[in-house]
Amino acid sequence: MRAYYYDNLPGDQRLPHDYVPSRLVSKEILDALNVKYWVIPVEGHEPKVDALAKERGYKNRDLINVSKDGMGEIYEEKIKTFFQEHMHEDEEIRYVLSGSGFFDVRETPTDQWIRLAVEPGDLVVIPAGIYHRFTLDEANNIKAMRLFQDEPKWIPYNRSEETDVNPHRVQYLQSVGVGA
Ligand SMILES: [Fe+2]
Repeated sequence: MRAYYYDNLPGDQRLPHDYVPSRLVSKEILDALNVKYWVIPVEGHEPKVDALAKERGYKNRDLINVSKDGMGEIYEEKIKTFFQEHMHEDEEIRYVLSGSGFFDVRETPTDQWIRLAVEPGDLVVIPAGIYHRFTLDEANNIKAMRLFQDEPKWIPYNRSEETDVNPHRVQYLQSVGVGA
């Protein structure tokens, strides 16, 4: 997984939006935001994903497949929805099996976007309460495993004054040492 600051230039969300030269983001910076990731090669991934799921209490999982070919006309609409800045009241855990895409997460307190370019083998944990968004890249396809603890709580709450005071948001800010 490659992590870098998003350039904020206009243009299709699927473009890399990488500064020239790139402004890379270190693992330490991601750690400080509570964004976790592991690389587990897809070939023979099952026991390793199972072990991590057990360790972190992810009891359930399913597969999602998002592609321009598979979805036809609603595809463009759908990926615009994914790209709305939002938060969840639970972790968002994704293990990429094929294809690629971008998770953008907000750095605090700078409010800059950090882009996570994910590819097969990347397992990313987006913490509850962090503002983020997702898009596919120009290849227009991704297949990923979604892991979750009990009931999936994937309702996206779009960023607003209300989400700013959501207890999960407040708890997140406290966990990263901001707004405590
Ligand atoms: Fe999300």
